[in-house]
Amino acid sequence: MTPPEQAVLVVDFGAQYAQLIARRVREAHVYSEIVPHTISADELKARSPAGVILSGGPASVHVDGAPSLDPAVYDLGIPVLGICYGAQLLARDLRGEVAKTGRGEYGRAPMHLTEGGVLFGVETPADQQVWMSHFDTITRAPEGFTVTATTPDTPAAAFESRERRLFGVQFHPEVVHTPRGQEMLKHFLFDACGCLPSWTMTSIIETSVDAIRAQVGGERVICGLSGGVDSAVAAALVHKAVGHQLTCVFVDTGLMREDEGEQVVETFRRNQGIELIHVRVADRFFERLQGVVDPEEKRKGIGELFIRVFEEAAGGIEDARFLVQGTLYPDVIESGGGHGGTAAMIKSHHNVGGLPEDMEFELVEPLRSLFKDEVRRVGEELGLPEEIVWRQPFPGPGLGVRIIGEVTPAKVAILQRADAIVREEIKKAGLEREVWQAFAVLPDIRTVGVMGDERTYAYPIVIRAVTSEDAMTADWARLPYDLLETLSRRIINEVRGVNRVAYDITSKPPGTIEWE
Ligand code: XMP
Repeated sequence: MTPPEQAVLVVDFGAQYAQLIARRVREAHVYSEIVPHTISADELKARSPAGVILSGGPASVHVDGAPSLDPAVYDLGIPVLGICYGAQLLARDLRGEVAKTGRGEYGRAPMHLTEGGVLFGVETPADQQVWMSHFDTITRAPEGFTVTATTPDTPAAAFESRERRLFGVQFHPEVVHTPRGQEMLKHFLFDACGCLPSWTMTSIIETSVDAIRAQVGGERVICGLSGGVDSAVAAALVHKAVGHQLTCVFVDTGLMREDEGEQVVETFRRNQGIELIHVRVADRFFERLQGVVDPEEKRKGIGELFIRVFEEAAGGIEDARFLVQGTLYPDVIESGGGHGGTAAMIKSHHNVGGLPEDMEFELVEPLRSLFKDEVRRVGEELGLPEEIVWRQPFPGPGLGVRIIGEVTPAKVAILQRADAIVREEIKKAGLEREVWQAFAVLPDIRTVGVMGDERTYAYPIVIRAVTSEDAMTADWARLPYDLLETLSRRIINEVRGVNRVAYDITSKPPGTIEWE
């Protein structure tokens, strides 16, 4: 996707906050991108951003090797907002004072506005809460700057120079614990930078459609659908742009969730009118998985067969030159890829439906500059059903990695049913968007039970439900006991072959979210 003309660049100093800031800017309908702090003033200028935000960072500006910024940035005449570490850097570089006071300030802090400031507008209350997370403190703003707010521990909690269009805040306006933070960011974007709130879902889709048309011309495009939200939205966008030039391939491995295969076909072929090749190959996958118990071998087996099947199907579309990938902005940031240009090869961590690196296609990556929540909103705007747009993450190897030990059709049937109950009840309880993932696992053991007058010897089902921000870390979800009770009762009553239900209370780390 070609970024819109008006962008605000977020300089990343290595904290977890840069992505959050970029998202908040976008929520204000201004396009934003993250750039490394090693960017030079010339490089920055060449991109003519409407504004620059310096993010927080874990380091102290006083430590040797602490990340810094080309100070010429402050003289470009581009509005700059420093946040936390970014504000300290700005204060230090312009000869204010950042002191090691020996005590940090973490959590909520009462802030008092001492002076009207661009960031605060006129109607904001003089006393409000902000979120602090820092050790060093800005004790004196640089010369020519006005201190606009203080907290008990930070004499210069906010400072600005209207003439130079430079602003600093020691607190974090991007987190929800600063209730008026988004308002302050908007004042920066609209009043200091002169941005317009023009980056809307409609404009994203329009820009993206134009870019796809320009790239693809009259050629044929292939897209592999996985059932997940990213490939679904990417396909819908490309279809909107080039219609029947797009052919989707859906490899139905037999390891999908209950009714998922049918739903993909229903959505894309019937509702969206997309040309879809539905390859039903469950038998080949079960055959390949016979006797395979080692998790890595299983993943590898599924991955390789997936590629073979996809190639066979794609090989039938001889004139295809382009391949759609649902790469998202966080993937681009993580792999160090910058703006512009299209990745030359398909990344290995898109491992399943991951495709080999040597396929001779040019990539179309219409989601390359979007965050997940934005992808979902684009999906909604394009009319994709809620079940697809809000679907929880699902591993490429599917239920194969949720069945411990050998994967057989009978075990898949048990797990599909139990999993469907878990998802149904979580949804009914209104927790679907609160938990990151909730699913069932089928371990390779059987336990003794008694049902009616009969002794049973059957499988347990393990319920796994986690909360997470990004799947890198996760905590087990504190599901209400009543819900767990319903899940247990329904699974045991309704799924033949199951006589026990357990709940996994392991966080990540040390556990992973999936069991294999
Ligand atoms: P783990 O189990 O490593 O999972 O904590 C982290 C997140 O990644 C998902 N996952 C996968 N996604 N292909 C994928 O596209 C895979 O092979 C794969 N394995 C795990 C998992 O569901 C969780 O959200």
